[in-house]
Amino acid sequence: MLGYSFESVYLMLGSDCNANCSYCLQKGNTKKQKFPDKLNYKVIDFIELMASRYYESQENTPVNNRKYFWVTYFGGEPLLKFDLIKEVNEELLKRGVIFRSSIITNGLLLDEDKVNYFNKHNFVVALSHDGLYSKKNRGYNVFEIVDSNVIMKINRLALNAVLTVNSYLDDIIEDYLNINEKYSEVHNYNIEMNIETFLDTGSCNQEKLDDFDYDKLYNQSYNLMMKYAKGNYNDKTLPSNNLISKYIKEFILKVKNNINSTPERGGCYCGRKVLNLDLDGNLYSCHNSSFPISRIEDSINDYFINLGCADRRVNVPPCEDCYVKFLCVGGCKMVPEELDEKYCKMQRAFYGGFIKALCDWGENCD
Ligand SMILES: C[S@@+](CC[C@H](N)C(=O)[O-])C[C@H]1O[C@@H](n2cnc3c(N)ncnc32)[C@H](O)[C@@H]1O
Ligand code: SF4
Ligand code: SF4
Repeated sequence: MLGYSFESVYLMLGSDCNANCSYCLQKGNTKKQKFPDKLNYKVIDFIELMASRYYESQENTPVNNRKYFWVTYFGGEPLLKFDLIKEVNEELLKRGVIFRSSIITNGLLLDEDKVNYFNKHNFVVALSHDGLYSKKNRGYNVFEIVDSNVIMKINRLALNAVLTVNSYLDDIIEDYLNINEKYSEVHNYNIEMNIETFLDTGSCNQEKLDDFDYDKLYNQSYNLMMKYAKGNYNDKTLPSNNLISKYIKEFILKVKNNINSTPERGGCYCGRKVLNLDLDGNLYSCHNSSFPISRIEDSINDYFINLGCADRRVNVPPCEDCYVKFLCVGGCKMVPEELDEKYCKMQRAFYGGFIKALCDWGENCD
């Protein structure tokens, strides 16, 4: 794996989970697979090497623009493996590796001790929560299960939502703004918010997309961008305005950054900028996949050849002429080709509203 640098690693701790979310894309793939559950210390050597490669690749970058190497703990439910997280984190620290950490979690096992640990080690805790109607999607609302004072204590809290037939953009944002109001009172800064579309990988609950109101989502994303364009979020004394503005600005930046590129269908950043690694040193094309494509001892050439094979889409039209390609950037490799059409419809509803609003906004500016 020499001679190439990656920005981060997703450490796949296994597929065990303490929840049963109706839409979980892991139901049909990773849940059937037994992942290694014992840490092979070669994995730590490898992360150490990858971090140093990443910093070497930035030697000519001005110091202020340099970025950290990130380690993200992923599952199943990663909090079921809290001791392993501590073991990896402490071993990396002991070796003097410079890195940042994050965890993507359903949050059900969060308690004061874990939050203190994450705060002490500056973790970003990305909590999966689908807004007002989270219970319908996930079977629970984490804010009703875990003491919300514990959640509010997290120093770096991100909320991750999935857009489904139960949870539309406006419902998610309304709930996130309420949570953020309390959070920003405690911390004097905002949460981060990430909202993704539901991915039908063929193994999740199909009903979620069959009844989906694509026009409703399109109109909601159009209106959100238009409200931003009209200056509705300009009063920066309100935390909610800053939260929405930051969210919208990230879309605008992404469009700018991708304006001249044509994405490869199914060829997302996963596996290319991000390494997906299990505890024994197997590498995967996606952290939601259960089929290793390579191992940490293998050559980088073999890795990329296998990644290309895992990502390949041959029977679907290219993304060339698609008007949301700057935001969708080619789609998800976990969606099988036969469900690609549905997938694109969803992407065009969500991102199409933003893009159309940007075009209308542009036309109305001098
Ligand atoms: C697979 S979970 C694993 C981590 C942890 N158990 C959790 O729920 O945060 C990672 C993320 O994928 C999201 N997710 C699950 N199924 C999905 C689907 N079909 N489409 C889009 N996102 C999905 C979850 O909501 C969660 O934010
Ligand atoms: S989305 Fe996360 S919490 Fe829900 S079933 Fe899947 S792995 Fe478990
Ligand atoms: S929505 Fe567009 S950019 Fe995204 S996968 Fe489909 S064709 Fe490609």
